[in-house]
Amino acid sequence: MALRYELIKKDKSSGARLGRIYTEHSVIDTPVFMPVGTQATVKAMAPDELKDIGFEIILSNTYHLYLRPGHDIVAKAGGLHGFMHWDRSILTDSGGYQVFSMSHLRDITEDGVAFRSYIDGSKHFIGPEKAIEIQNALGADIIMAFDECVPYPCDRDYALHAVERTTRWAKRCKQAHADERQSLFGIIQGSTYKDLRQKSMEEIVNIGFPGYAVGGLSVGEPKDVMYDILEYIMPNMPDDRPRYLMGVGSPDCLIEGVIRGVDMFDCVWPTRIARNGTVMTSQGKLVVRNAAYKDDMRPLDEQCGCYACRNFSRAYIRHLFNVGEILGARLATIHNLYFLAGLMSDIRKAIMEDRLLEFRDIFFGNYYKSQT
Ligand code: GUN
Ligand code: ZN
Repeated sequence: MALRYELIKKDKSSGARLGRIYTEHSVIDTPVFMPVGTQATVKAMAPDELKDIGFEIILSNTYHLYLRPGHDIVAKAGGLHGFMHWDRSILTDSGGYQVFSMSHLRDITEDGVAFRSYIDGSKHFIGPEKAIEIQNALGADIIMAFDECVPYPCDRDYALHAVERTTRWAKRCKQAHADERQSLFGIIQGSTYKDLRQKSMEEIVNIGFPGYAVGGLSVGEPKDVMYDILEYIMPNMPDDRPRYLMGVGSPDCLIEGVIRGVDMFDCVWPTRIARNGTVMTSQGKLVVRNAAYKDDMRPLDEQCGCYACRNFSRAYIRHLFNVGEILGARLATIHNLYFLAGLMSDIRKAIMEDRLLEFRDIFFGNYYKSQT
């Protein structure tokens, strides 16, 4: 079953939208944050723990699963859903980003990208057709077109060529994609150039996809630049399709992205900082690893209802990090994901009740209180 997107409500005082995505595996309330499970696992989390927090969709990566264990093995297990025992929705990224950011000695041609594995240096090739073949085997509900994501800064001429190539590759992806149960999303590029963003958007929308992603942002440009691009491009995108901002997931970017019309987000940052001993709280970030918390018997966040906060103190979690016990990383991850799920739920409620901008001011007032 291809996905269905239902637009429930448009915010009157911003670009925000409340919606719902129906896939074969779950119903996803949007705006949504998708935890990242690069290696077919959201690091440190069992699938049931993700469900308990309320996640309806997670993300995984073509590039990594192609290299290890190989998409043939995942297919043999019944696709990613069977392989990792996750029966809700999955989105796979195409590899169009990882192949550019992680591979050594890559050689980009019109056909695709030849690269050497970051694991053992072996030679590989992924182009649009291959990216679709791998994603068909992985069997995610939503799959992504193979695109060229340019770094920041990027000169206009190169950005233009990447936009045009991304369009040609998107056509080939659509052509190669045959599995009707999976929905293929197009990706818009164009670096920080508004006219190129508009051109890319028009070309990708003309090809026609059930959803559209904005790629090539959050690659090192200032946040204001990203917000400015979103503000420009989002109002021109089709109303009746979900819009996905790739690789974005800090609280400020989530809220500012929603305000500009984004429906879907993903990012490794919340789970990565958790494993390093940093958690998000309603009062801002907290480095629980710090010695300052060695005898602090309060939970990570006094306003949080997650498993970690209901049962453990900062002192205990700090101790776990201090002695290198993996439960520390698990509890911090549970907390950070619960925090973001709660933030997205609060955002949806605020849109529903016509008070999103007010919500932003209150949230930022608390979150950045200690830093300002
Ligand atoms: N993840 C973050 N940014 C991008 C992008 O531009 N393209 C793809 N395919 N994935 C991404
Ligand atoms: Zn918590």
